[in-house]
Amino acid sequence: MDFATALGSLFTPEGRHDPYPAYDVLRAHAPAFLAPDERWYVTSHALVNRLLRDPGLRLADARDYDQFWPDWRQNRGVASVVLSMLQSNPPDHTRVRRAAAATFTPRRIAAMREVIAGQAEELIKAMPAHADFMTAFAYPLPIAVITALLGVPESDRAWFRQRAADLTVVLEPISTVDEMDQADAAGRDLENYFIGLIAERRREPKDDLTSALVAQGESGTLTGEELLANLVLLLVAGFETTANLLGIGLHLLLRRPAEAERLRADAELAPAYVEEILRYDSPVQLTSRFATETLDLDGVIVPAGAGLTMMLGAANRDPARYDDPHRFDPDRPNVQPVSFGGGAHYCLGAPLARLEAQVAFPLLLTMLPRLALTGDAEYRDRLTLRGFATLPVTTG
Ligand code: HEM
Repeated sequence: MDFATALGSLFTPEGRHDPYPAYDVLRAHAPAFLAPDERWYVTSHALVNRLLRDPGLRLADARDYDQFWPDWRQNRGVASVVLSMLQSNPPDHTRVRRAAAATFTPRRIAAMREVIAGQAEELIKAMPAHADFMTAFAYPLPIAVITALLGVPESDRAWFRQRAADLTVVLEPISTVDEMDQADAAGRDLENYFIGLIAERRREPKDDLTSALVAQGESGTLTGEELLANLVLLLVAGFETTANLLGIGLHLLLRRPAEAERLRADAELAPAYVEEILRYDSPVQLTSRFATETLDLDGVIVPAGAGLTMMLGAANRDPARYDDPHRFDPDRPNVQPVSFGGGAHYCLGAPLARLEAQVAFPLLLTMLPRLALTGDAEYRDRLTLRGFATLPVTTG
């Protein structure tokens, strides 16, 4: 495959289905290159890792959007993402991130272990003999966990999956007009939902994340707009990605019976397995930045104002960082995937996502010892948020 074919393939369903051969060609071509869409693509682990921490790079925030897309606020899917911490810069990002981190404490997350295990056991017991793993487990578990954290009533949970799926299309490099309309509708629905929940918690605070964030809003740390956008972000970021980690991980394990057997016999291995799953096939493949100053990328000069796409999935399989990178090997030493990003925007939910996966895989393997893949697993046709649309399994 030549360079142009490899790059073009990422914008086709086949290429998105398995982007790794294309990533190899692009990385071998250059650690950073200018593509015809006038963006710089960064492929090597060393550069991605460095640039995510480089203060000379920023996110496209509300002020930038005002310049290149004056009407962006009318699409409430786009607005939810752009107004959240995910796309803000210092000093706003520092303030909002600090406020959210103060509520998303290690104590609150660690306390979720029992809730995660309880929910996972319930879902496993209810799993039909033939099931779509995504519907029966991979989505419901993180939805239950993040909604429990946020304090969303159980009866409202099923409602979120489609809306989150519709909204996250705004993270893709290219989307259709219809998809953008759906993202807008999903953004409006989610905003209206949280406007209601915020009002309830203002009247009567509870011991949940929404009440804690509302309190930050009342003390003046967060504006009303920021409070709303970040609640939507926490919900959406909290389960789309984690559902994909669970689907990708189960698929990897069930296709490698010896690895599944080892984890079944020893749940202590779960953290190493989860890190290698994250490295081997990251649920988030791309993230974007702008250069605020001229960058010298090991001799490649990127001008100020240039847009950069960090290829997280390519970096995770960089042979300069990992021996034999296309081999799934939970015994690999020093695994530090860039799947949760890095630097100031490092995923706030990483400890929660890791915990969910570390609890879920051993439970699935021990409670369902004959769990197996059956039929055709189908990837979603997305590049940024990678995962399965359906993953048929049988519980034997
Ligand atoms: C396997 C699961 C997950 C993956 C792979 C993932 C990945 C990422 C990545 C790559 C970023 C950084 C984006 C960038 O630098 O541009 C990010 C940010 C973020 N993630 Fe996650 N995430 C996961 C789960 C979660 C969960 C469970 C939550 C919350 C409950 C969450 C909340 C967030 C938030 C709030 C940010 C923005 C942080 C900031 O901008 O300061 N994520 N995530």
